[in-house]
Amino acid sequence: MKPLLFELAAAPGVAAALCERAGCERGEIESRSFPDEESYVRLISHVGERDVVLLCTLDRPDPKLAPLLFTAAAAREQGARSVGLVAPYLAYMRQDRAFEPGEAITSATFAKLLSSQFDWLVTIDPHLHRHRSLAELYSIPAIAMSGSEAIGAWIRREILRPVVIGPDEESGQWAGEIAERAGAPMTVIMKTRSGDRSVQLDSTALDEVSDGNPVIVDDIASSGETMIAAVKRVRERGFPAPTCVVVHSIFSGDAYTRLLNSGLARMLSTNTVAHPSNEIDVSGALADGVARALRSV
Ligand code: R5P
Repeated sequence: MKPLLFELAAAPGVAAALCERAGCERGEIESRSFPDEESYVRLISHVGERDVVLLCTLDRPDPKLAPLLFTAAAAREQGARSVGLVAPYLAYMRQDRAFEPGEAITSATFAKLLSSQFDWLVTIDPHLHRHRSLAELYSIPAIAMSGSEAIGAWIRREILRPVVIGPDEESGQWAGEIAERAGAPMTVIMKTRSGDRSVQLDSTALDEVSDGNPVIVDDIASSGETMIAAVKRVRERGFPAPTCVVVHSIFSGDAYTRLLNSGLARMLSTNTVAHPSNEIDVSGALADGVARALRSV
């Protein structure tokens, strides 16, 4: 029998693409809040002894977490052979150490929690920095797929003489892969963060790439400050207005509007998180990850 896929949260079209490409059948679920804001979940489709796939992107994760865990538990209680999680954006990856004494290391706790409830996990470009792989955090098979191929292909197709720029050291891993796929030169700017919304960028590295059309790529835009500062530095160095691309368009508060007004040419993202900037489809990569995960159960 085909695996049963329940959609809890995803960009439009992702669930359908996964069903088509990874051979899943769409399950029907009812999920809502009681007046007191506790969660109610009902799996309407019959689970039986099937493999179950929950699709839930985890931007703004806290309100999504309770319904997600209840759905996983309900699937198991109803006989599921396995329960996997597809989280196109995987939350709580950035607090991977205590920067100040006493801080909770949320990446580790979140990974333990998900590992205790799911048989496998598939995501796109998790923010791996001090950890080299998800296996260092997750005790279940955790597959990290990449949006770089789709982003690189988009740049190759749409931008004449592109120059790929990573706005900080951590972005180097994505910028490098994307530049390779796009057949473009690349450089990485150095960033110092002094607060949630405060970053300083040293753009000396831009001297390494003399001309071309700048494409700033990062894994996440959250407050948008990193991208806004990078746009500023790129313009100061005399480059044309840059195209900005992120894998995960989190955009808290008015970040998107401020970024659009910062002097860029265009802002794009992949569809790991539903957002008006979504232009690059990564559901193919997700489907490949799901097919691989299902083969392992
Ligand atoms: C940081 O290390 C990431 O790669 C992103 O640069 C960062 O998360 C972006 O955050 P913000 O939009 O708040 O500057």
